[in-house]
Amino acid sequence: MADDDAIVARDLTRTFPPTHAGTWSVLRRASPKREEREGGGRFVAVDRITFDVHAGEVFGFLGANGAGKTTAIRMLTGLLAPSGGTARVAGHDIAGESEAVKRSIGYMSQRFSLYEDLTVRENIRLYGGIYDLTMVQIRERTERMLVRLGMADAGGRAVRDLPLVWRQKLALSVALVHEPRIVFLDEPTSGVDPITRRQFWELIYEAAAGGTTVLVTTHYMDEAEYCDRISIMVAGRIGAMGTPADLKAQFRVQTIDELFVRVARPDGAAAPERAS
Ligand SMILES: Nc1ncnc2c1ncn2[C@@H]1O[C@H](COP(=O)(O)OP(=O)(O)OP(=O)(O)O)[C@@H](O)[C@H]1O
Ligand SMILES: [Mg+2]
Repeated sequence: MADDDAIVARDLTRTFPPTHAGTWSVLRRASPKREEREGGGRFVAVDRITFDVHAGEVFGFLGANGAGKTTAIRMLTGLLAPSGGTARVAGHDIAGESEAVKRSIGYMSQRFSLYEDLTVRENIRLYGGIYDLTMVQIRERTERMLVRLGMADAGGRAVRDLPLVWRQKLALSVALVHEPRIVFLDEPTSGVDPITRRQFWELIYEAAAGGTTVLVTTHYMDEAEYCDRISIMVAGRIGAMGTPADLKAQFRVQTIDELFVRVARPDGAAAPERAS
């Protein structure tokens, strides 16, 4: 563990009680993998993950649907108590110091995190207020952000009336408005067109250049290439971790797409190709 590690997770684990409603239909449809994860009647959504994210890094948190990414993020942001293991975020223990963790981070949740009935400007002010910015800072940053997002004329519009892309851009920006040490972005580009995805990544890089550590999930493999390092979660565990270049070499594949299929495929036979 280095001093400059922004996130330090050790054997971090989260289980959930079995689903009571429709247990039989759930079990019947469950993959063998899922049943394996239901040891002792509890479902292991995140299974003893251990990893570090260094300060200033852009860390891609990949994995198939249901792999456990959001559950891990909810623990790291102090929103969900771990069932086992430990983690420190910005130097604070996620279990004992969750308030300090929350003050050090920004979080763009996978489900929509803005207030639909409030206007764009009101949303930015609200988040700025939550994060203890002064009125002057809030006013300055709101106007700067609106111009930067090309939304200067939309400041007074209710969020629910905005196109999805604008809402996503705004959600990303409010997660960064207080210039947090670490930002967690859970599928920030989901449902966003390729050109806007590039603009998102410019914002992400800008935040990283300003010293913010970024942990980002995505299902777009081209975006994984933009990350300093990536991890691939498979059924609650980390199946592979490293720089995109090192992982491609290690697994002898040409693209992250191939790497992902190799590591995250359901039979779980993830093993780096041995040098012959
Ligand atoms: N509150 C909960 N109660 C029971 N099971 C849960 C709960 N939250 C998540 N799970 C289960 O834990 C597993 C991991 O879910 P999670 O949302 O962390 O996956 P994910 O990797 O973020 O997937 P996606 O890419 O679809 O967002 C899933 O099988 C999910 O159904
Ligand atoms: Mg998720």
